[in-house]
Amino acid sequence: MNPTFLIAKKRDGGELSEGQIADLVRGYVSGEVPDYQMAAFAMAVCCRGMTIAETAALTEQMLHSGITLDWPDSPAPKVDKHSTGGIGDKVSLPLAPMLACCDLRVPMISGRGLGATGGTLDKLESIPGFRTDLSLEKMRNVVNQVGCVITSASAELAPADKKLYALRDVTATVESIPLITASIMSKKLSEGLDALVLDVKHGSGAFMKRLDDAQALARSLVDTGKRMGVPTVALITDMNQPLGRLCGNGVEVDESVAALEGSGPDDLMEVTLALGAELLTLAGVAADTEAARKRLQQTIDDGSAHEKFRQMVAAQGGDLDAPRQVAPTHEVPAPHAGWVTSIDTQALGRAIIELGGGRRQQGDRLDLTVGLQMRVRLGDPIDQGQPLALLFASPKKANAAKTMVADAVKIASEPIALPRLIVEKVV
Ligand code: URA
Repeated sequence: MNPTFLIAKKRDGGELSEGQIADLVRGYVSGEVPDYQMAAFAMAVCCRGMTIAETAALTEQMLHSGITLDWPDSPAPKVDKHSTGGIGDKVSLPLAPMLACCDLRVPMISGRGLGATGGTLDKLESIPGFRTDLSLEKMRNVVNQVGCVITSASAELAPADKKLYALRDVTATVESIPLITASIMSKKLSEGLDALVLDVKHGSGAFMKRLDDAQALARSLVDTGKRMGVPTVALITDMNQPLGRLCGNGVEVDESVAALEGSGPDDLMEVTLALGAELLTLAGVAADTEAARKRLQQTIDDGSAHEKFRQMVAAQGGDLDAPRQVAPTHEVPAPHAGWVTSIDTQALGRAIIELGGGRRQQGDRLDLTVGLQMRVRLGDPIDQGQPLALLFASPKKANAAKTMVADAVKIASEPIALPRLIVEKVV
C-alpha cells in the first residue's frame, strides 16, 4: 500500500476500494501510516466526501479494529439509541431502563460532553459512587443481570475511532458526514446490536445547525447501519431550545428520575417515547409504534422503569438515594416584555461551561452541581422582570453566566410559529 497514492486519489475525487480503505485503517492503527498522512486523508475526505460504499467500508474497518460484543447468554434483542447531542438531552437515562422492561437488552456505550453539549457519562457521575469505566466482563454481567448498562467505550472497542477522532479534533476535520458516520457507527455496532435508533438533532443547540445537514447525516447513518445488517432508523428532532427544563449534570439526573416517576416534561417524554417506540418495532417486540408507545408508557405508570434504573445504578456502584448537591440559585429576569422568539441554545451550553459544568479543555474537572432551569419556552408571552431561567451557580461565577443566558433569549413584540419537536423519520 502506498498511502500517498490513496490520499491523492481521494483528493482528486476518486472512489477508494474496500481493500484500499482496509489497508489505510490497518496501517494507521498499527502505526505504519503516520498521523500526518491520516490527517491529509481526513482533510481530503472532508473536501471530497465519500460514497456510501466507501463510508460503509470505513465503518467496517474501524469496527473491526477492535472486538465486537457477542451475547451468547442473552437471547433477547440487543438495542441502543444514539443522539448527536444537544443541551438538556438526557433521553438515555430514562430510555435505557424503559427498554430493558420491554424484553430488550441495552448495552449502551456513551460519551462525555463534547463542545457545548452535555455527556451522559458526566451526568451519571453526579450519582455518588456511579462507575462509568466498566470492564467488558462487568458490562456483560450488568446487561445479563439487569437488562441495561450505560458505560464508556473500553479500549478494546473501535480503537481506530479513538485514534482518528483525536486527530480530527485538532486538524479541523470533525465536520465531515462520512467521518462522523464511521465514528458513530463503528462504536455503536461494536455493541453487537439487533436494532439501532438515532436521534439526529438540528437547530441552535445541535452539532448540525441546519435541517438539510441533519437530514444528510441521518441518511448516511441509516444507510450505513442497514448496509451493515443492523435495522436502523433515525428521527430528526428539534434542538432550537433545551430538551426538558433542566440542563447541567446533576440536575439532569433529577429530571430523568422525575421522568421515570411519571412527572417528566412533555417534550422529554415525547422524544423518549418516540425513539423507544422505533426500537420496540424494529426489534419485533411490538407490532407498531402505537402499541410500542403504550408498552413503554406502562413501564413508567407501573414504576418498573424507575425500579430498573435503580437496579442499574446499584449494579454500577451508585447510590440513587444519596443526596446530590445543587449549587445556589440565581434568577435571570427578562429585560422587557414580549414573546420568546428564539433561544441561542448553544450559548446556554456555553453558560454552563462558564459555570464549570462543561469542559474548556480535555481533562478539565467538572462541577456537577451547576446548571440551569429554563423558565420559558419558544413562543411564550413574557412580562418584564419575569424569570427567563434559574441558574445553579456559585455566587462568584453567576453574573457572567446570567448575562450569557439573558443574551441567549430573544424577546420580540410578535409571537412566532413553534418549531416541530419531531421533524421527520428517516428509514
Ligand atoms: N460523535 C462521535 O462519536 N464522532 C464524531 O465524529 C462526531 C460526534
